[in-house]
Amino acid sequence: MQLDDNILNQFISPNGSNRQLVEQTIQKVTTQLLDFLTNASNKPTNPSFQNFDTKHFQIPDISQTETEIKESLQEFYDLSMNPANPKYIGHMDSMPTLWAIIGDYVASALNNNLLSLEMSPVITQLEYSMTKQFTTLFGLPNSAGGVMLSGGTLSNLQALLVARNTKLNIKNGNIFSIKKEPVIFTSEHSHASIQKIGMMIGIGTENVLKVKTDENSKIDISDLESQIKEQIKLGKQPFAIVATAGTTVSGNIDPLNEISVIAKKHDLWLHIDAIYGGAVIFSETYKHLINGIEKANSISYNPQKWMYVAKTCSMVLFRDFDKMVENFRIPAPYMKDQNSYINLGEISVQGTKYAEVVKLWLSLLSLGKNGYEQLIDYSFDLTKKFIEEVSKRNYLKLVSSPEMNLICFRGEPTNLNASELDSWNEKLQSYLVKETDFFLSLPKYKNSLWLRTVLLNPFLTHKHIENLFEHIDKFKKNN
Ligand SMILES: Cc1ncc(COP(=O)(O)O)c(C=O)c1O
Repeated sequence: MQLDDNILNQFISPNGSNRQLVEQTIQKVTTQLLDFLTNASNKPTNPSFQNFDTKHFQIPDISQTETEIKESLQEFYDLSMNPANPKYIGHMDSMPTLWAIIGDYVASALNNNLLSLEMSPVITQLEYSMTKQFTTLFGLPNSAGGVMLSGGTLSNLQALLVARNTKLNIKNGNIFSIKKEPVIFTSEHSHASIQKIGMMIGIGTENVLKVKTDENSKIDISDLESQIKEQIKLGKQPFAIVATAGTTVSGNIDPLNEISVIAKKHDLWLHIDAIYGGAVIFSETYKHLINGIEKANSISYNPQKWMYVAKTCSMVLFRDFDKMVENFRIPAPYMKDQNSYINLGEISVQGTKYAEVVKLWLSLLSLGKNGYEQLIDYSFDLTKKFIEEVSKRNYLKLVSSPEMNLICFRGEPTNLNASELDSWNEKLQSYLVKETDFFLSLPKYKNSLWLRTVLLNPFLTHKHIENLFEHIDKFKKNN
């Protein structure tokens, strides 16, 4: 049997026989993609949900032509969320760096498998090297190391699995051998993934205890300490505290140093969820904001957010890498041990792993630490301008004092009573999307609706911010 040329041409021939055709296809698709991306400022930030023509989703019996595929793709672009538009300021979704896009292309083309060294000889070494360098950036000691995972939830999961195995002394993860019910403590404003992980690691969501926060959404230390003592009295077994450096809704940072003292006093694992805020380590001016992070037993961090690396790209770092291996590794019998590199699939919650480190590496090569410092500092400059604009208007109120480039605010015009405020803010959010294309998200937080902005886009300027506030004033005048 011989395969049709049409089938073989869906691959890049390893002997170069279809190179011209492949180049043409890549060129055409790249042109179409660039037609969209280089005009992203004029495309809707978040196209309203429409039922996509399902004809494009049908699995065809026979191969589609290049023209048909490009037609399906065009609609796909037009109806997708558009974080490249500077007016898209509603979520932690950044536009990717050019080299992150190229990194995905390279990683997919090489299609190595981070499961084992023999399946990814150079990329495994790259991942080890990158995670090691991040441990240094975060100020962890030489014993530290980490792994990369597909998203922050997985990074938090692995951190808390290792915390559980280590602190409860159950290397095999058998929770039925534990005499006392284990509990962990985290802020009432920590990410929902921590609850989900309580369910996944077998302690139950009810044993993820929520600690009160102050007016700036930071963990209240005295409540933390009194809850720990209370749980011990009740016969429970506290084993970890999860602090957040950059809360999801308002970007606030828990008092890391003070929490580390309490963790040490009660012999608890300290995990710091720096999924969002970890990026400030690149800024000489702002890295002090996460002082204390170097005391963590584990840190999770997502370059896919403020480092502009395309999704997914996350990492979890451990203060004591060997201990993590000891308390987590499940050796794979079919993979032989090769020199000093442990197969990454044996020491991470994923088996087959995507080479997401490639786009992180290429982004770092192209921007350097200095480029990232400028990006982070620029975000803070925009934040300052944004807060100035909020402060000029006495009908606007901030949910907390912003510490990162996340600002959560809402209108509280004095002519309205409290019960009317949520609907006023909801209308303002829809008005901004429909009439101006500024997309801000609308989270429910502290029992009210707020407008949330994340100032990430490098093409966002002070002019955009002034323009946004002119629109908000206009809305206020008429409502
Ligand atoms: C503070 C924090 N932790 C964890 C997560 C979960 O990360 P992911 O969505 O990549 O799973 C998020 C997501 O926004 C987050 O903001």
